[in-house]
Amino acid sequence: MDLHLLVDRDRKVASLEDALRAAIAGGRLTAGTRLPPSRTLAVDLGLARNSVAEVYARLVGEGRLEARVGAGTWVADRPAPGPATTAPVHRSARFDLDLRGGLPDGSAFPRTAWARATARALSEASATALGYAPPEGAPRARAALAEYLARARGVVGSSEDVVVTHGFGELLGLVGRAVAARGGRRIAVEAYGHASHRELLAACGLEPVPLPVDDDGAVVDALAGASVDAVLLTPAHQFPTGVPLAPARRAEVVRWAERTGGLVIEDDYDGVFRFDHRAIGALQAQAPAHVVYGGTASKALSPALGLGWGVVPAAWRDDVLAQRRRSGAATAAITQLALAALIEAGDFDRTVRTLRLRYRARRERFEDLMAEALPGSRVVGLAAGIHCLLELPDGIAEADVTTAAAARGLRVDGLSAYAAAPEYASARPPAMVVGFGAPPAHRYEESLGVVIEAIRVAGGNPTG
Ligand SMILES: Cc1ncc(COP(=O)(O)O)c(C=O)c1O
Repeated sequence: MDLHLLVDRDRKVASLEDALRAAIAGGRLTAGTRLPPSRTLAVDLGLARNSVAEVYARLVGEGRLEARVGAGTWVADRPAPGPATTAPVHRSARFDLDLRGGLPDGSAFPRTAWARATARALSEASATALGYAPPEGAPRARAALAEYLARARGVVGSSEDVVVTHGFGELLGLVGRAVAARGGRRIAVEAYGHASHRELLAACGLEPVPLPVDDDGAVVDALAGASVDAVLLTPAHQFPTGVPLAPARRAEVVRWAERTGGLVIEDDYDGVFRFDHRAIGALQAQAPAHVVYGGTASKALSPALGLGWGVVPAAWRDDVLAQRRRSGAATAAITQLALAALIEAGDFDRTVRTLRLRYRARRERFEDLMAEALPGSRVVGLAAGIHCLLELPDGIAEADVTTAAAARGLRVDGLSAYAAAPEYASARPPAMVVGFGAPPAHRYEESLGVVIEAIRVAGGNPTG
């Protein structure tokens, strides 16, 4: 913990205090920066330890530093109000709570099991396995994923068909570029979804063509007249409206793909989180030659791993891998091996089971609380995944709720934030997309309380 401070030899203590104040005010020492223990700094500066401790204590008193026994001393989150500094202060809105759709609870990450899996993977890995993994992924990870996906999601394929990627996002980009490289120009997307996925496809050279979404999922009958080369779908749990693709529509997509040779990209981002014992298997199983199945570790484990996977039809595999070679990207081999070890030990299944129970309880609590506190609101979508749609009581606008929530430090988006075009945004009743996964358990109730308050304020009735 080195700290560079210019301290005047003749007035060391006062000078240390000034130098720390200036470094904090000027932004050189930013919020959260740890300071050296007073004993260390005292030795470095040739001061008595008590003198340094007193300087720290004075700055804590001013709100410039924070300290806790056993945790040390660090620069405070909020600089104390004081004389204006010459340095510009850049501040964005502070969001303390996050209920955006699709974020998992970071505190639920199975740290011990992951550490164990990493240790086991490292102790078992050959020197070759610690070199560059082949573009399709480490053999051990592909085998573990093929076994898991066949067992848990009904996916049809062997380890030969599996490609390990940097999240679903990378898979989508690889497949999008492979479609464009074969002369494809247009890809159907659900009218509600992540703007980042639409942008990614556009960057591949494909024009995203929205398909309306209703209570049976994407209106895939429209594919026939849409002149598209491929379609991106979330069949198990439409993101973000939360409905599954109806069986007749699943059959229709398969017929379209078989008839036209069009490619289906199945985004199975949260298929393992179904709470009602009626898991819908992967659409891929109905047409393995026409569907690229995509999954991610971002929900069940963490986006911080940067892990996703695809099961790619044989006819597309070389093209997808050619895109990967060209991209220069690779998934860290050690991370892949740790995932394989986690799956092999049964810890991935255990984590999913634990999370399923936790998220189910959160979803139920959410439904109960909204019914009680917000008459006229409606929770829609399957009891699955880590988000749902909350239709707002009459007369309340999504943007007003987002603004009122932001003023209270909570991030939450309206459904229209996910619409591919404004006409889709106005096609459905105003609703908030509530991701109930992200807040740590001890802040869940508080987060829901803020949502309720924000909706009441947006409706001009703050006291309910
Ligand atoms: C609809 C949807 N698809 C896919 C993903 C996963 O993406 P990635 O694996 O790139 O993190 C997410 C994650 O937020 C998602 O919401």
